[in-house]
Amino acid sequence: MTTKRTTILSIFGTRPEAIKMAPLVKALEAEPGVRSIVCVTGQHRSMLQQALDLFDIAPQYDLAVMSENQSLNGLAARLIGAIDNVIEEEKPCRILVHGDTTTATAGALAAFHRRVPVAHVEAGLRTGDMTRPWPEEMNRRVVDVMSDLMFVPTQRSEQNIARETLQGRSIITGNTVIDALLSVTKRIDSNATLRASLDARFPYLDDSKQLVLVTGHRRESFGQGLRDICAALGEIARRDDVQIVYPVHLNPNVQATVISALGASPNVFLIQPQNYMGFVRLLQRASIVLTDSGGVQEEAPALGKPVLVMRDVTERPEAVQAGTARLVGTDRHAIVCAVSLLLDDESARAAFALSVNPYGDGHASSRIVSALLDRPFEEFRPDLRVSEEQHRLMRAAVA
Ligand code: UD1
Ligand code: UDP
Repeated sequence: MTTKRTTILSIFGTRPEAIKMAPLVKALEAEPGVRSIVCVTGQHRSMLQQALDLFDIAPQYDLAVMSENQSLNGLAARLIGAIDNVIEEEKPCRILVHGDTTTATAGALAAFHRRVPVAHVEAGLRTGDMTRPWPEEMNRRVVDVMSDLMFVPTQRSEQNIARETLQGRSIITGNTVIDALLSVTKRIDSNATLRASLDARFPYLDDSKQLVLVTGHRRESFGQGLRDICAALGEIARRDDVQIVYPVHLNPNVQATVISALGASPNVFLIQPQNYMGFVRLLQRASIVLTDSGGVQEEAPALGKPVLVMRDVTERPEAVQAGTARLVGTDRHAIVCAVSLLLDDESARAAFALSVNPYGDGHASSRIVSALLDRPFEEFRPDLRVSEEQHRLMRAAVA
């Protein structure tokens, strides 16, 4: 006799979604009672493929919607029709979407219109400002409105949900990015040959210098914000005890500004987007991480790396609160000062390297699967107390 299986359709389309959904897809695939279908929208092309290859995910559907320098409305319009066809074909019991992208919003809306229940992974993040990050703050809010299950990473995100009149149920799971990160660091740390081959990608890195690892691609920073960030990097790069590595996002607006501002700067290495393992290796080797990315704000603290966030507000305030991240905005002077302080003061760097990890413990995917299948589990509730010594270091660094 064959038992009936629950069809769960996971829909994602960008690099960060693929990295963060990969552990969950793997966990669903291992469940005999689940028929797991993956639909990638292809909102990103090569950056998505890098992540699919690394985690060995072979999607049943690839909607290949990306176009060069795509507009948000053009993208959204292509997505809804294409996702609707997949829902019609597969008739899933539920769909899973992730985070705050146009793919997530279109996927949730297409499912909602077809009365298919939506579960939102990485729900409840808020800055409270619809313009920052733009359009992501709107995306994550409307996906939560349409979801009957909201997998929130932290207690803070659950509190955000509790303040709104939403009909779904929220469950604190931790962030699946930590599941992905821990699986990759385990592979790197246990294999010297792999480490050597990853390091061989960056033969120019000099261990006697401090590595500043940069990512920057937010739409609300296009124009002056990104130019100011580049001016700050150019100034920092004048020091000869520093190397700056910046994997440049493939968005043409980012490429044009960054390459024209920094292409000729000594000590600045503009490189192609790395696959996740290559990027995690760079994170491990970095002294300081400078970013406006969401995922990197979660990963750097988990690796004990100081992270300066080039935004004025963040939907991930937990690390700022814990003292492992600081907001520096996009002002040139503020970035140069904050980076210089950390470069020049080892105790200031050490103060960021707390052992607490507010975002996850590596078991988020297993909690999500248990919740989907109605099995008992314990929510993620980390102990965020920091030791006396860590408090002392933090106070000294801020003074
Ligand atoms: C999107 C998400 C953002 C997320 C980011 C992660 C939205 C509205 N924004 O922004 O939340 O932080 O992804 O990176 O969903 N491109 C390529 N190849 C790729 C990927 C992108 O060429 O593999 C170029 C294309 O010209 C594309 C452009 O980048 O049109 C923009 O991609 P898009 O997904 O629309 O915006 P992102 O800025 O990447
Ligand atoms: N990342 C990567 N290669 C890179 C730069 C970043 O794999 O060259 C990873 C990073 O570790 C994180 C994710 O991509 O997990 C973040 O993606 P992105 O910054 O594009 O999006 P965001 O997190 O801001 O939505």
